[in-house]
Amino acid sequence: MKRFINHLTMTLITVATLAACQPQNNGIRLEHQGDTLTIVHITNPTRYLILPIQESHNEGKVKLITGSPTDIAIDVRLAVDSVEYYVPLALPQSSEATVSISHVAANAICWDSIRLADNFDTTNTDYYRPVYHHTPLYGWMNDANGLVYKDGEYHLYFQYNPYGSKWGNLHWGHSVSHDLIHWEHLDPAIARDTLGHIFSGSSVVDKNNSAGYGKDAMIAFYTSASDEHGQIQCMAYSTDNGRTYTKYEKNPILTPFDGLKDFRDPKVFWYEPAQKWYMIVSADKNMRFYSSTDMKNWEYLSLFGEGYGVQPNQFECPDFIRLPVNGDKNNMKWVMIVNINPGCPFGGSATEYFVGEFDGKEFKCDNDKSVTKWLDFGKDHYATVCFSNTGDRTIAMPWMSNWQYANVTPIRQYRGANALPRELSLYTKDGEIYMAANAVKETEDLRKGTEFINDFALSDEYIVSPLATGIEGACELEMDITPNKAQTTGFQLLNDKGEKVDIYLDMKSGRIVMDRNQSGLTAFGEKSELHFKETDDHRKTESVNYVNDFALGTWAPLSLCEGKTYHLDVFVDKCSIEIFIDNGRIAMTNLVFPTQPYNALRFYSEGGEAKVKNLKVHQLGL
Ligand code: FRU
Repeated sequence: MKRFINHLTMTLITVATLAACQPQNNGIRLEHQGDTLTIVHITNPTRYLILPIQESHNEGKVKLITGSPTDIAIDVRLAVDSVEYYVPLALPQSSEATVSISHVAANAICWDSIRLADNFDTTNTDYYRPVYHHTPLYGWMNDANGLVYKDGEYHLYFQYNPYGSKWGNLHWGHSVSHDLIHWEHLDPAIARDTLGHIFSGSSVVDKNNSAGYGKDAMIAFYTSASDEHGQIQCMAYSTDNGRTYTKYEKNPILTPFDGLKDFRDPKVFWYEPAQKWYMIVSADKNMRFYSSTDMKNWEYLSLFGEGYGVQPNQFECPDFIRLPVNGDKNNMKWVMIVNINPGCPFGGSATEYFVGEFDGKEFKCDNDKSVTKWLDFGKDHYATVCFSNTGDRTIAMPWMSNWQYANVTPIRQYRGANALPRELSLYTKDGEIYMAANAVKETEDLRKGTEFINDFALSDEYIVSPLATGIEGACELEMDITPNKAQTTGFQLLNDKGEKVDIYLDMKSGRIVMDRNQSGLTAFGEKSELHFKETDDHRKTESVNYVNDFALGTWAPLSLCEGKTYHLDVFVDKCSIEIFIDNGRIAMTNLVFPTQPYNALRFYSEGGEAKVKNLKVHQLGL
């Protein structure tokens, strides 16, 4: 049974739900000191203080007072006029506990329902929670962090706020998996501290005991971020297979030599030719390279990036990997993954990459500065980095959202999911090297049943309904489409309300398009509502291309593929659609919020006959 769930759920779920809603103010004494400071005196603390949340309100300052310099201090959007959900604050198990809460008015509604409890119910309450994608049990999640494989376990750490479903209080949350598909939720591994939020970073297995914490210790590198100390790189080590980390007592290990404000997301890797550890840190519009023998003292080497790719942008979350071109191990190339925000052609955040050579000091990109290569052509693929220690495989894990609207998606108990893990490889097209990102083969284990549909020629329309999508609309569609040369061939995923996602090959412009204009809920959050617009012709991808909205289509150039026939692998999971074409030569990841699951497919062709072969509908589940 899952350890984290064990800690947090009751044995009897029904009882838990009731208990979670019962005020138990026995044991709590509230002392309001003035209008915005309240001291919560607790006798015989239970395991948790349950905090009522209202997302639209400002953050209150919550501090556990134990007299220790490492007292927990967090920002919590405590409910002022209505309670939306609750989060647990773990209490010290002594005879008394004191919590100070400031910036929350004495007449706020939270004081009526703040309570003590030994359990916190994490049974899912969100309609849009994916069936087979990784999500936190509750709270906010953004970037994948510290991805590392060790002793049969994939460790997925992630930017995590356990005290609300909006960005804040960054910890490293933690889940592990044996197959990249089934995830077990564990306790957060690294908690926010007095140096600041625990921002993104990476982990390695210290095979040669370079850091001195033992052979095979796991070493995590992250950015501590605070107004007081800025963005500084820190280190922590684990000798219990990544369950708990001890922060290095002399942190930080690296500060910016020029006082740079944006200096974060350290990626550490072993560079065999130099027998050293290397670190890449995103430094505003560059990546800076460092090297070290003991992981604690870092020497600056070089920088890469200014002016490369889409401009202007903020570089974040680097990764640096070495891959064979077309599988040929005699032809290896280095690839720098750069996540940029903003810069996405469809607005907000996106992931670009640069292919080139590395001589142990400097990275030189093969392409001109103006060339941008995208790892994904959707709008909800960000902060993508790879697992370390995976041998010949290179597996990337994206966060499936976009900074434009990540904080206001129509979800409550948790906010943030990972896209499917992807296997990365290099291929050539017209003399250029590109990186393919295909869903890992382990996703085949999700298939619970398959409907095979006979091949058909398409001159007008062809409807597959009902669609055997299985559990709550979670399915995978595979097909080979040979489009007509002249115009448009595609299909719509539809539900009974007429909500639809339109996926089509536009041969005139040479694009594959995923249009979510009418996919369901497309406007959320105050700002998005103001910006929301309907387009009469949803194929006008070009015209909605730079709009900072959710309602739009995203597209990719079909010139990345070889052929007249395109193999499409489409994953649908409650609130997301990921398309992989020709084994990931094109990947496209988009969120969608249909108000009921899509349950039909309408194929269509305009301007000539097309062919659809090998159509399979796989029902997916864990
Ligand atoms: C990317 C990012 C990182 C940072 C983290 C903070 O999404 O902005 O650069 O470390 O999120 O949560």
